[in-house]
Amino acid sequence: MTQQLVMRRPDDWHLHLRDGEALRAVLPHTAARFARAIIMPNLKPPVTTVAAAQAYRDRIRAALPAGAAFEPLMTLYLTDGTTPEEIERARASGFIHGAKLYPAGATTHSDAGVTRIANIEAVLERMSAVDLPLQVHGEVTDPGVDVFDREARFIDEILAPAVERHPRLRVVFEHVTTRAAVEFVRAARAGVAATVTPQHLLLNRNALFAGGIRPHHYCLPVLKTEADRQALLDVLASGNPRFFLGTDSAPHERHTKEAACGCAGCYSAHAGIELYAEAFEAHGMLARLEDFAASFGADFYRLPRNQDTITLIREPWMVPGHLPFAHGTLVPLRAGELIAWRLA
Ligand code: NCD
Ligand code: ZN
Repeated sequence: MTQQLVMRRPDDWHLHLRDGEALRAVLPHTAARFARAIIMPNLKPPVTTVAAAQAYRDRIRAALPAGAAFEPLMTLYLTDGTTPEEIERARASGFIHGAKLYPAGATTHSDAGVTRIANIEAVLERMSAVDLPLQVHGEVTDPGVDVFDREARFIDEILAPAVERHPRLRVVFEHVTTRAAVEFVRAARAGVAATVTPQHLLLNRNALFAGGIRPHHYCLPVLKTEADRQALLDVLASGNPRFFLGTDSAPHERHTKEAACGCAGCYSAHAGIELYAEAFEAHGMLARLEDFAASFGADFYRLPRNQDTITLIREPWMVPGHLPFAHGTLVPLRAGELIAWRLA
């Protein structure tokens, strides 16, 4: 049995860092493991301009622990009002690596998102022209659609047509959760990729109701069936370079999740590579971890692969029941339980 795993330092291609005190609480977890991360722009108010992204990037860099070499890769939040000119400026900035499509109402802080994809056609056109990747939260928002079917419906109704209409647009289908999404990405034209979270590899929807309702397992897209989870694991076992690591670590204060109407988001940055190591090992594919975590995403974003390494040790450790967060606490994934791998 492997006792120690030395691997190229990974990157997180989908991360929520928040801002202010919250940012300072969570950033050290990511910076200890990952060299870079794609920073989600769903702040309040959202990061819709290059100027706002630059200011947010400065705040992230200022919040880094002394000596940390972490690089935030910024994104723009698309709205009905985003202009093609802002896309040009984003491309020219050198520090913005994509623009995120949140269908309005689909998830946390998405109310300023896009109400109809037709409203951003000119923006998608310009993104294709300047080769700025589109990151997609892929769920329809129609309350009449079953919450477990919203990803599959989004593929048929929105994503597949958009990928065809914009044949040169590079697209990341974020946090894929279903067999349908795996099959879509596998079969799609070149330039279509996906991120995969640790919770969707480790848990199925039973985890939402194990012994009672479990708000800390609630994220969007919601956990799916065991067959869906197996489809995700199988495509990663195949070493398909279109699928890479994106934790979607999304911190919320404890009382906002343990509530009558709890927020969506799982916090995983405290074990952002360790949880994947566990999932990959359980599926007999530990040898696939390095490319998934440290190669395929960099290749897709046309950034150099990291040159340094991290070491994971097979040594179980107990995750604290809660962690400090802004003016309260947050409950991390696996709180009060063991994780099989530890970062050296
Ligand atoms: C994210 C958040 O809290 O910002 N929540 C989540 O459940 N994943 C938003 C998102 O990525 O959907
Ligand atoms: Zn997210």
